Amino acid sequence: MPDLQIRNLHVSAEDKEILKGLDLEVSKGEIHALMGPNGSGKSTLANAIMGHPALEITDGEIIFEGSEITDADPEERARAGLFMAFQYPVAIPGVTVAKYLRMALNAQREVRGEKQISLKDFRRETEAAMELVKIPREFSSRYVNDGFSGGEKKRMEVLQLAMLRPKIAVLDETDSGLDIDALRVVAEGVNQFAGPDLGILIITHYQRILHLVEPDFVHVMHDGRIVKEGGPELVGELEAKGYGWIKEEVEAAA
Ligand SMILES: Nc1ncnc2c1ncn2[C@@H]1O[C@H](COP(=O)(O)OP(=O)(O)OP(=O)(O)O)[C@@H](O)[C@H]1O
Ligand SMILES: [Mg+2]
Repeated sequence: MPDLQIRNLHVSAEDKEILKGLDLEVSKGEIHALMGPNGSGKSTLANAIMGHPALEITDGEIIFEGSEITDADPEERARAGLFMAFQYPVAIPGVTVAKYLRMALNAQREVRGEKQISLKDFRRETEAAMELVKIPREFSSRYVNDGFSGGEKKRMEVLQLAMLRPKIAVLDETDSGLDIDALRVVAEGVNQFAGPDLGILIITHYQRILHLVEPDFVHVMHDGRIVKEGGPELVGELEAKGYGWIKEEVEAAA
């Protein structure tokens, strides 16, 4: 059974249907890319997977490791091993990177019935993770995402991957304002941590990041549904031809 299973998902926001019957399966050990034009519903899918309160799931289900989590709250999902990096991450003033990571780690440990991490172990783990993802030590005393550059936001994303070791990570990548170095940070992080214990769903509008991360599966969204699926070759095809032909295919089939 796939680790994350999305079946016939219908999602509305403010009484407008945004996802119109979406099916997707992501398992550990796989890298999936979700592409599609602006407004096709990619971020809405990511938000629905994480249980965003503004969204209403009107039909279908989300199953994680065999349990239905369609109505679970976001904290519960995070603790179970789902991780989400937002397209527009919010700043958390007053909460340092170190404090944030420690709270997140302790929440995971609580679910596993383990006691809170000691300050000594936490420091050691943080230092190891920061070294692994090449982040200077001062970073841990910054406030989360507060005044972070695009590249620093990406480092925060990768640091969380390194420390929290989620089972499935959804990375909703912003397409504008990220320079090639910031893209490289994400790509290197993904390539470093991808493996049998992690499944990745990387969401992007452009192909840029997919030159640095080779997905096993590519899904293309249009108007709230996945309308085309393939392997990495689809990335090049979309780059050459754009999204227009997909829309035409969908309309011709309707
Ligand atoms: N909370 C909300 N309330 C009302 N409408 C919403 C809400 N969230 C999303 N939408 C609408 O749903 C549609 C899909 O938006 P979404 O952000 O999922 O697209 P996207 O594929 O991520 O686009 P982009 O490539 O620009 O990131 C848009 O028309 C958007 O305005
Ligand atoms: Mg989006």
